Amino acid sequence: MRMVDLIEKKRDGLELTKEEIHFIISNYTKGDIPDYQMSALSMAIFFQDMTKAERAELTMAMVNSGDKIDLSSLEGIKVDKHSTGGVGDKTTIALAPLVASVGVPVAKMSGRGLGHTGGTLDKLEAIPGFSVEMDTEQFLKQVNEHKVAVVGQTNNLTPADKKLYSLRDVTATVNSIPLIASSVMSKKIASGAEAIVLDVKVGSGAFMKEFEQAKELATAMVEIGNELGRQTMAIISDMNQPLGQTVGNALEVKEAIELLKGEGPSDLHELCLTLGSYMVYLAEKASSIEEARTKLEEVIRSGKALETFKTFIRAQGGDDSIVDQLEKLPEATYKLEVPSPKSGYVAEIIADKIGTAAMKLGAGRPTKEAEIDLAVGLILNKKIGDYVEQGESLVTLHSNDKQVEEVQQIIYEAYQLTNELVTSPPLIHEIIK
Ligand code: URA
Repeated sequence: MRMVDLIEKKRDGLELTKEEIHFIISNYTKGDIPDYQMSALSMAIFFQDMTKAERAELTMAMVNSGDKIDLSSLEGIKVDKHSTGGVGDKTTIALAPLVASVGVPVAKMSGRGLGHTGGTLDKLEAIPGFSVEMDTEQFLKQVNEHKVAVVGQTNNLTPADKKLYSLRDVTATVNSIPLIASSVMSKKIASGAEAIVLDVKVGSGAFMKEFEQAKELATAMVEIGNELGRQTMAIISDMNQPLGQTVGNALEVKEAIELLKGEGPSDLHELCLTLGSYMVYLAEKASSIEEARTKLEEVIRSGKALETFKTFIRAQGGDDSIVDQLEKLPEATYKLEVPSPKSGYVAEIIADKIGTAAMKLGAGRPTKEAEIDLAVGLILNKKIGDYVEQGESLVTLHSNDKQVEEVQQIIYEAYQLTNELVTSPPLIHEIIK
């Protein structure tokens, strides 16, 4: 088999076979296929697309390129959740203990933040003492004992995807549905998921700005999962404004705790209960979505979800007293209000600009190596549809630096105000099964 013939085949719009796809991925991982040939193939895929069978094979080839986490020693159906990335998305922190409280085993691998998006691992590290590092044996033991563990990804998970993603990043081939869908699904499957709930974000702050694109991506991932024997479904959720009211590591942990106490913003609550209900249903801990939701509401009401969160924190070395004493979480020195320049209704809050503002305060990493400040971030005092008077606070900045003019300017660019009455966009746009 010669790579040049396979590039030509895809360039001409023909379907690659299973053997051909596995040949490409295993030889590219080993370094026997050079980047220039893989770039040409990625561009051919970008223009010619892939069939359902090709997408599934590409996913499996990437799964097989590295380690696979074996979760078979855990009782029950292992359901994973994945979000395509947004701003203020702290759902994993609340969802992990929430669904674990109704008996769903949560063995989760999460990532760190980069650029305007935050990462679950960074957020959890805002809890004093909390560690996201442990070996596989410990990881499995913790899930067996406490039903929940969240750790960093092992280094050798889907190396083909890591290599290919870096290449796509510099060859203008990131934005390809078959390549994104196989990239995401390969990581979920290699992490041991038997069933998968996807949260595909759509809107100004999302990877997919338009609904049709988001739906195409969601459908592609659901098809791959189902083709590979993993029950998969996707929720298309709104990212025309950040989720909840907080952006920044410790601030987001606080908001997740409030949710587990039955408080907190309604959009975060709704998204967590929707995603959670599908996780519980796919894990066969409820016979309908409605029953799953009732169970989740019950564990919030009874305090069991909060207790599970405390146990989870302790199991990973953290100080669980922060749950009842939120002031023990890292706190920024200055709380600075950003006054509205005029009166009006909030029409949009461009989420990636809010993410950038939080990053400039120090909550996120401009580069992979950068250090972050876990205490800083911002609170959105106004969301879409709210009326604001001139001079009233749009946002409260939590900063360790008094000089925030640049950040304030970004907030003004993010907030779009209008004189017309605005209705808030729906949070859940569609559910793809
Ligand atoms: N996220 C991924 O994991 N992979 C992609 O290709 C794009 C976004």
